[in-house]
Amino acid sequence: MPHACLIRRMTEDDIPRLVEIRPGFVSETVLAVERSGDGIEVGWRLVERPLLAPFDKGHDYDFDATERKNIRERLQRGDGLHLVAERDHRLSGILDMLPQEWNSTAFIWNLMLDRDARGQGLGRDLFERAANWGRRLGYRSLTLETQTNNVPACRFYARMGCRLEGLRDAYYTNEDVQRGEVAIFWTYPLT
Ligand SMILES: CC(C)(COP(=O)(O)OP(=O)(O)OC[C@H]1O[C@@H](n2cnc3c(N)ncnc32)[C@H](O)[C@@H]1OP(=O)(O)O)[C@@H](O)C(=O)NCCC(=O)NCCS
Repeated sequence: MPHACLIRRMTEDDIPRLVEIRPGFVSETVLAVERSGDGIEVGWRLVERPLLAPFDKGHDYDFDATERKNIRERLQRGDGLHLVAERDHRLSGILDMLPQEWNSTAFIWNLMLDRDARGQGLGRDLFERAANWGRRLGYRSLTLETQTNNVPACRFYARMGCRLEGLRDAYYTNEDVQRGEVAIFWTYPLT
């Protein structure tokens, strides 16, 4: 089913309205991190495992004051791509990305849809706009981060053609692996 949203450039007036988007998710599985080896000869393997109870992100992804401030600062730089999707006078999605000139990539900080706006092609539409923008400006790839407990988003990015490029198993806390939330990084080549 094609989505029926208006997609337009974000303005500063949209920032307080980001709270209209409900970006939480539920995952039935997790990508467990299996580490092997020691010292400088180590390997990591991701294995999808069912969870005893579904993981519910709850309100952790919500656009709180700190996140809105961060997005405003990125928007004010003026060199990124910041889009919102709107339906029935309500914001239903955001794409928030910035270039990283030093390695000629563009980093997607946020690609988030309201829970009622998912599964209708809007995520693909925003992702393709991100890729077209990056390609037009000559960046070599898009990069982004997900968590190992956000398997629905991982499936989406894999479907978009992104390739897993690595993980950091102590990126959020010293106990990331025990918490089941490890940062994984994706790349989408543009050249
Ligand atoms: C992840 C997210 C952006 C995907 O957007 P979406 O609009 O639901 O995805 P689309 O409907 O455009 O789907 C695009 C393709 O991905 C596939 N896909 C999307 N979610 C999927 C899932 N959970 N499992 C398997 N495939 C999935 C679709 O089947 C579709 O394939 P097709 O176009 O070949 O038919 C959206 O679900 C979301 O905002 N989730 C919550 C916030 C979040 O986790 N954001 C990412 C943070 S890193």
